[in-house]
Amino acid sequence: MIVLCLGTRPEIIKMSPIIRALREKGLDYFVLHTGQHYSYNLDKIFFHELEIPTPKYNLNIGSGSHAEEIGKMLISIERVLKKEKPDIVLAGWDTNTGLASTLAASKLHMKIGRIEAGLRSYDRRMPEEINRVLADHISDYLFAPTKGARNNLVKEGIEKNKIFVTGNTIVDAVFQNLEIARRKVNTLNKLNLNPNAYFLATAHREENTDNKERLKGILDGLKLVHYEFNLPIIYPIHPRTKKKINKFGLEIPKGIKLIEPLGFLEFLHLEANAKLVLTDSGGLQEETCILNVPCVTLRNNTERPETIKVGSNILAGTDPHKIRAAAKKSLAAPANWTNPFGKGNAAEKIIDILVK
Ligand code: UD1
Ligand code: UDP
Repeated sequence: MIVLCLGTRPEIIKMSPIIRALREKGLDYFVLHTGQHYSYNLDKIFFHELEIPTPKYNLNIGSGSHAEEIGKMLISIERVLKKEKPDIVLAGWDTNTGLASTLAASKLHMKIGRIEAGLRSYDRRMPEEINRVLADHISDYLFAPTKGARNNLVKEGIEKNKIFVTGNTIVDAVFQNLEIARRKVNTLNKLNLNPNAYFLATAHREENTDNKERLKGILDGLKLVHYEFNLPIIYPIHPRTKKKINKFGLEIPKGIKLIEPLGFLEFLHLEANAKLVLTDSGGLQEETCILNVPCVTLRNNTERPETIKVGSNILAGTDPHKIRAAAKKSLAAPANWTNPFGKGNAAEKIIDILVK
């Protein structure tokens, strides 16, 4: 029996192809949700849209400091694992949920499959980087999305026979849902937008949202981009960022339309039709690369260097003038790169390896 651990928006989306593959093969599994994300539009909406079964366990951990989230998760996950005694604990990514699931399983000497292993920003100020490094080093089967990720692991001394290059399950999720989104959703009409005539923005990373100067830099940068191109910027805002904008008393510049976070189908549709995406999200750097939409990353580094290499992504940081310059530069180049994250069969590869 396989237990699938998840807890946040991107984990639910990136786990959905694995669930589909397990179902198709008739394998025994259940979902363990930590409850790190719990607002309807960061959580349940994806279970409905992507037809994921209700978790057997929802630990309802909720929000807190890193120690609170991870500490509470560890205690509750251990209880479930001891009771269920799974053959494999499948967890992944770079969240507190990912680290806590892996650590709890490791202390019980259970076998751990780690999805999206080997990504490195080499920036230990990011909570995600600490989570990645620690979780990679205590896992048994490391599913690296690219050769670059595999090389990072090998350089850190992880045995080669533990590492499997599988591609990223986000490619599977995009391919499985893009056409459904095209048929089912009407978001452009709803927002009064024309294809290729708006920008899409998101930002939620701790190092950006919790620093007033950086957060203001992002908003000012978006304002400059709006004035440069005279196009609207649609920004589905993460609750963390909304809270911080209010706390710091920052104003939303004209031309930026804040909306509530969207479901995956609506968001994917908006993303696929955007002229350009500006973001600090990891998943969006991948998705834009898959969708052939240019991306400006509002960070100083990335653990997805493949996107920079193929030319889909430019790092801009949070300086407003650099954000505008990066937007101009990305729109000047043709969007004809090849996606380096796989063919859309990552989930199947991962399951086949685990079954073997
Ligand atoms: C987490 C991950 C981050 C990932 C992101 C995906 C960690 C360390 N961070 O960041 O890597 O990119 O999820 O979106 O695991 N909140 C709500 N409703 C919710 C969840 C959160 O309102 O359902 C608000 C709360 O005010 C909370 C804040 O968002 O304090 C931050 O939530 P948290 O889960 O700690 O981190 P994220 O910023 O969501
Ligand atoms: N996403 C979504 N609705 C939104 C914003 C993002 O469905 O309003 C999806 C997006 O398509 C991607 C994932 O959420 O698959 C990215 O999550 P996020 O940016 O929160 O986290 P990260 O990838 O940075 O860890």
